[in-house]
Amino acid sequence: MNQSGVVIRVPGKINLGLSVGPLDSDGYHELVTVFQAISLYDDVIVKFGAEGSGITLDASGSTATGVPLDHTNLAYKAAALMVERFQLDADIDIHLKKEIPVAGGMAGGSADAAGVLVGIDALFELGLSRDQLERIGAELGSDVPFGIAGGTAIGRGRGDELTPVLSQGKYQWVLALANSGLSTPAVYSECDRLREGMMISRPAANDALLQALRAGDAKGLGKALSNDLQSAACSLRPALRLVLDVGNDYGALGCIVSGSGPTVAFLVEDEEKALDLTVALSASGVVAGVVRATGPTHGARKISSI
Ligand code: C5P
Repeated sequence: MNQSGVVIRVPGKINLGLSVGPLDSDGYHELVTVFQAISLYDDVIVKFGAEGSGITLDASGSTATGVPLDHTNLAYKAAALMVERFQLDADIDIHLKKEIPVAGGMAGGSADAAGVLVGIDALFELGLSRDQLERIGAELGSDVPFGIAGGTAIGRGRGDELTPVLSQGKYQWVLALANSGLSTPAVYSECDRLREGMMISRPAANDALLQALRAGDAKGLGKALSNDLQSAACSLRPALRLVLDVGNDYGALGCIVSGSGPTVAFLVEDEEKALDLTVALSASGVVAGVVRATGPTHGARKISSI
């Protein structure tokens, strides 16, 4: 082995469409979702550790505060799974440089796990295919395979059965961040509560959304953004409605709560609109932070050896 460490860059994601089916007997909901990887990244550094140290995890970066650094972190679980699966006889140090908002519906934890899988594959020269890595990722969590794949993709099942989507152009996003996260299970159960007594059909792909992506039509995409969890997220966090209103007032092409929230993603036409909206959101007092990003971007990939 001729490298002592690798740096893997992994993107956050937003869900452009999220169709949620009825609650299944396994406690999960069947989904059809369209993911887009966006240019907010964590860097995952995977290195050989000191003999006998086992798996160690630490974190730095603007969104690292409060991230658990023990075996409950999905990045740690990813390393433990790879060690067990491939009988790796080595100690592994993982360092997360975090910029993806935490607990915001942007899959930051899943991205880190994706980075660890790709990093261990590279460091130990396992030669796994993307497909194999995605299948291992699915054992860890529904959003992990997309962290590996990146780009734009439809996720079916729990969101982990991926098919790439034909997409043209780059899209400009403004993301409104919240101070504290929303619990994913709580948002799903609020969704069930709000839909009580309604006939819920199987989840379906949003044709208008896919058509807009195929055509590179930002206006069409803005209109087609949809998330079945949005009402539930707004019901648990009413301030999100105010955030969505700011986007409408400042000419966003569309806005959506990302995943189970509370991050709100605004699609805008160009740099100028992005700037206007960033200023308006920052001044509104209803958000904790604003960041800009473009999508789609690549999935987990090695950017250097160390
Ligand atoms: O995917 P994850 O394990 O983070 O999901 C946490 C919880 O969110 C699940 O235990 C379930 O209650 C809810 N969930 C769901 N349907 C999904 C994904 C998550 O009901 N497709």
